[in-house]
Amino acid sequence: MQNFQLTRRAVLAGMGATALTARMGNAATAPTPLTAQRAMAQIAPEGYPQTEVWSYDGTLPGPQLRVPQGARLQRRFVNELDVPSSVHWHGIRIDNAMDGVAGLTQDAVPPGQTFDYEFVVPDAGTYWYHAHTNSMEQVARGLSGALIIEEPDAPDVDRDEVLLLDDWLLNPDTAQLEPDFTHPMDLSHGGRFGNLVGTNGHYALTLKAKRHERLRLRLINAANARIFVLRLTGLSGWQVALDGMPLPTPEAIPEELILAPAQRVDLIVDVASDGAQAAIERLGNDDQWHSQIAFEISGEASRTRRDAPAPLPPNPNMAPTDLTQARPLEMKIEGGAMGRMSRNQMQGLMQSGNFWTLAGKAGPGDTPFARLSQGEPVRLRFLNDTAFPHAMHLHGMHFREVLEDGSLGPMRDTVLTFAGRSHEVAFTADNPGKWLLHCHMLAHAAAGMSSWIDVT
Ligand code: C2O
Ligand code: CU
Repeated sequence: MQNFQLTRRAVLAGMGATALTARMGNAATAPTPLTAQRAMAQIAPEGYPQTEVWSYDGTLPGPQLRVPQGARLQRRFVNELDVPSSVHWHGIRIDNAMDGVAGLTQDAVPPGQTFDYEFVVPDAGTYWYHAHTNSMEQVARGLSGALIIEEPDAPDVDRDEVLLLDDWLLNPDTAQLEPDFTHPMDLSHGGRFGNLVGTNGHYALTLKAKRHERLRLRLINAANARIFVLRLTGLSGWQVALDGMPLPTPEAIPEELILAPAQRVDLIVDVASDGAQAAIERLGNDDQWHSQIAFEISGEASRTRRDAPAPLPPNPNMAPTDLTQARPLEMKIEGGAMGRMSRNQMQGLMQSGNFWTLAGKAGPGDTPFARLSQGEPVRLRFLNDTAFPHAMHLHGMHFREVLEDGSLGPMRDTVLTFAGRSHEVAFTADNPGKWLLHCHMLAHAAAGMSSWIDVT
């Protein structure tokens, strides 16, 4: 009898708790939706029709998500497209189950269904999110947005601007996206390039600014394949973070700033122009500089220029520093047009719809490129034996490039490797799970340049 009473009470208490959580789950703490849906966007100049895109929440790019460092990001992904999709949180040292890679960390979310993403964001900085199901098409159609993790003490700037650089391949008459996302020419060469280049969903972005105003500019390359080569005119300042991660000290901005697909750079700049204009310019295929972002200057924010900014506060766990114990790995990148693969090899590859291999294998498959034990330091050498540059991205962990003199470069999550060159990166395999390792030229990733590592 007593036992029964106890059991009954326990069961009732348990039910109460369940009912309560369920109610809280539906009302008080229901995660904010992030909805993939069709939308219209005025990408092309006025006078051209709007472009039909696939968007998050109806906007291009998707809504800018801002979360304080160390907080929990919660979003209910709602798929209102008629194809499966999933969301990847690029550069976040995330819980593996939340990484959004369809086929590796979760099943793609079918049309009409939802998936709850919930994870802690350990590092402050500039990140982004994008579709990771058939991403070559879905990202090109518009499924990306900025993810900003805010430092507890923001640097002293007048304004913080997020600049998501992209390009779109539009039909010149209708301004609609060219629908052939798997053209063999794109897959086997540099990838899908747009014929219209722009920022934050427009072909031409103009920002207002004041003389001596101090701006934090967060540049994100969201393009499928384009490597941006940028220069600043009338703005001068420092780069303070790469791929989200703060540099130990602010550095002079290189005269030509290279931003590979998926890479980010945070700049702190002062409006230094004497005239009414400043700009971020991009080097075109024609070898000319074109305005990427224009600044219209009027008024004055302060009398004189200010001192150099302090470095951003470092993020936790910036490893490794000692490579003597690091496990050496090598990944050869082969294939593509004009490469050194034999005709026979190439034909074999193409029969499986691929053009490229990583460490001799096309596509992620069932077995990882490497099995690593949690906490293991690793040095990974990419041998780019192709005729193209590749932006190699590792999920879940940042790495440092091992420079020619053996010293370690800044923390990054994407490294641009050049044709015929070798690039080594080092990281600590401190995040357990299955992590994709792929080229962020998304046509390449779709045509063989995807692999993964398993950390246990
Ligand atoms: Cu930006 Cu595999 O991702
Ligand atoms: Cu590539």
